[in-house]
Amino acid sequence: MRLLVLPGDGIGPEITAATVAVLEAASQRFGLGLELTHDIVGHASLKQYGATVRPELLTMARERDGVVLGPAATFDFKDEAKGEINPSMYLRKNLDLFANIRPARTYPGLPTRFPPFDLVVVRENTEGFYADRNMAQGNGEILVTEDVSIAMRRITRQCCARIARAAFELAERRGKHVTIVHKANVLKIGDGMFIEECRKVAAEHPGVTVDDIIVDAMMAHVVRAPDRFDVVVTTNMFGDILSDLTAEMSGSLGLGGSVNAGTDYAMAQAAHGSAPDIAGRDIANPFSLILSGALLLDWHGRRRHLPAFEQAARAIETAVEQAFGAGEVTADVGGKLGTRKTGEALAARLLAG
Ligand code: NAI
Ligand code: MG
Repeated sequence: MRLLVLPGDGIGPEITAATVAVLEAASQRFGLGLELTHDIVGHASLKQYGATVRPELLTMARERDGVVLGPAATFDFKDEAKGEINPSMYLRKNLDLFANIRPARTYPGLPTRFPPFDLVVVRENTEGFYADRNMAQGNGEILVTEDVSIAMRRITRQCCARIARAAFELAERRGKHVTIVHKANVLKIGDGMFIEECRKVAAEHPGVTVDDIIVDAMMAHVVRAPDRFDVVVTTNMFGDILSDLTAEMSGSLGLGGSVNAGTDYAMAQAAHGSAPDIAGRDIANPFSLILSGALLLDWHGRRRHLPAFEQAARAIETAVEQAFGAGEVTADVGGKLGTRKTGEALAARLLAG
């Protein structure tokens, strides 16, 4: 498996280094033959190449099996004409990574305020309210006058249907329950279409139970009883917001693993951002990107029918579980280790089997 590794900004380089250590250990133990190519995005790339992301990276990504992308300081990037492009948007859009899969679960060794839960947010990733990725050219957010802005939300049957398929296929392998989260009471046309397409796909999966919940009420339901949910399918912005909530509920936003998958490519990417408030201090939790790496191995293994990759993914998840029991974790989840030592301890645990 050949991967392109792009560390990004803020805590990106720290959590990426820890992730690389773990992926290399997994490769060694399971004979994955991982080949990593390292390059840069974000501020480092802006400084060196005049752009936060270069078209060459797209070519490199297409020649490989996947990408590991650290978070970028996207809020700093205002003007595409000056090379300030959101690297995540650029790669998600150009590689057509339509399914953003974001699991969130509690761990026995990590107390939370919630009952044990294990759910996955399946978020549409290529359209919706994210104006930077829902147009073929230009941007769907417009400044009409200095005081008036308009943002357009694109919803298409095709994109609804394919994210619904991803959600139901996942539910078949898990708890066989899909919850459709929407705002069809207000966004009657677009979210109406989303529900319709989800229901069509549901008809092809009679063994999967389906319900639907309006997004605002969902915030209350998920906090009240997260153990009710298995797979939650939703549009882009709702999924973005909901998945930060569920990651934090699992113990920390720093546990939010996430993979962006398309038909031919996939990209491991933590759910959170570049966390400038804790950058450079060796305290960021690397598990988000490490778990994202595991999701990427799993995606590759299933797609190419290579069981060793699926085993490696399970082993990383198990090692994370055990790390909580052993206290080999960062401070945000009650541990004493720094980012680097947490990665090293996890890599050692994997190698020890
Ligand atoms: P953030 O997700 O970076 O941080 C929110 C809070 O969670 C902060 O208190 C941070 O310290 C904490 N946190 C995040 N990751 C953590 C980790 N691994 N371990 C421990 N604590 C962690 O959100 P924020 O501060 O709003 O955004 C910072 C920058 O990241 C902005 O420029 C934003 O645009 C960008 N961003 C980039 C994303 C991407 O590249 N995919 C996604 C989201 C935000
Ligand atoms: Mg987000």
